[in-house]
Amino acid sequence: MLKTVIIGSGNVARHLAKAFCEAGLPPVGIYGRNEAAVKELATEVNVPFSTDELIDAELYLICTSDRAIAEVSTKIQNPRAVVAHTSGSLPTNILQGNYHKAAFYPLQTFSKDRILDYSEIPFFIEAEDPAVGEKLMKMASAISTRVSRADYDQRRHLHLAAVFACNFVNHLYAQAEKICELQQIPFEYLLPLIKETASKVENLLPKNAQTGPAVRNDRNVIEKHESLISDEMQLKMYRLLTESIYKTYEL
Ligand SMILES: NC(=O)c1ccc[n+]([C@@H]2O[C@H](COP(=O)([O-])OP(=O)(O)OC[C@H]3O[C@@H](n4cnc5c(N)ncnc54)[C@H](OP(=O)(O)O)[C@@H]3O)[C@@H](O)[C@H]2O)c1
Repeated sequence: MLKTVIIGSGNVARHLAKAFCEAGLPPVGIYGRNEAAVKELATEVNVPFSTDELIDAELYLICTSDRAIAEVSTKIQNPRAVVAHTSGSLPTNILQGNYHKAAFYPLQTFSKDRILDYSEIPFFIEAEDPAVGEKLMKMASAISTRVSRADYDQRRHLHLAAVFACNFVNHLYAQAEKICELQQIPFEYLLPLIKETASKVENLLPKNAQTGPAVRNDRNVIEKHESLISDEMQLKMYRLLTESIYKTYEL
């Protein structure tokens, strides 16, 4: 297994550090620019940290924001090291340096204080060198039972699919919450519906699981809903999604 330094102290850095610790492979260090956050994370997982000199390692996992990956990657000067980023949407050649380049992409939504079952998270590995790919597959397999290889094209399409399946859906929850709040109705009434909507696609294709006025093209209900929406952006979203659903099922 590779001696690993995690770079960054945000959501993914925190969860990967914890996942490696739980797997019995604690990182040899956490490195980052935000001293308070790096120290807090390193203390929590009980590993050394640094905010200036890079700790020596065989694997550097760059878990910074996408826009910082290129800049941060220039700090690594060891040609024998493996350097991997965790982004779904960037190629491995975003990494700027003479070393083994790779991607180590976990397909999950990571928020700081959430408890996750790391063994269920799909990991997607890409590496220029097949032997390096093999080592990263082993590292990821210590955390998760769902580890695959994916090239950049597959990974960026997975990331796109994840934006629809997670970020957009969550934004729609936020719209529902806004509607409830205006009517002083607790959002929690919607939780059983949200849970069932998510769980039924484990057995049904999403296309076969659709219900509601748009799939039935119930114009009467749709017009009533539209008259209840005062927020212009929300009305645009309602109309666009209704049209998309209607056209999907149109005979
Ligand atoms: N969150 C997810 O659900 C998720 C899922 C899969 C993959 N990813 C990928 O994982 C990576 C990290 O995402 P995240 O959600 O963990 O981000 P995040 O919580 O926003 O954390 C970003 C980290 O990057 C550091 N950073 C930002 N700019 C920097 C710079 N110029 N130099 C050094 N450090 C810098 C931040 O430090 P400061 O505290 O100093 O700003 C922070 O530690 C991204 O590539 C993202 O695409 C995220």
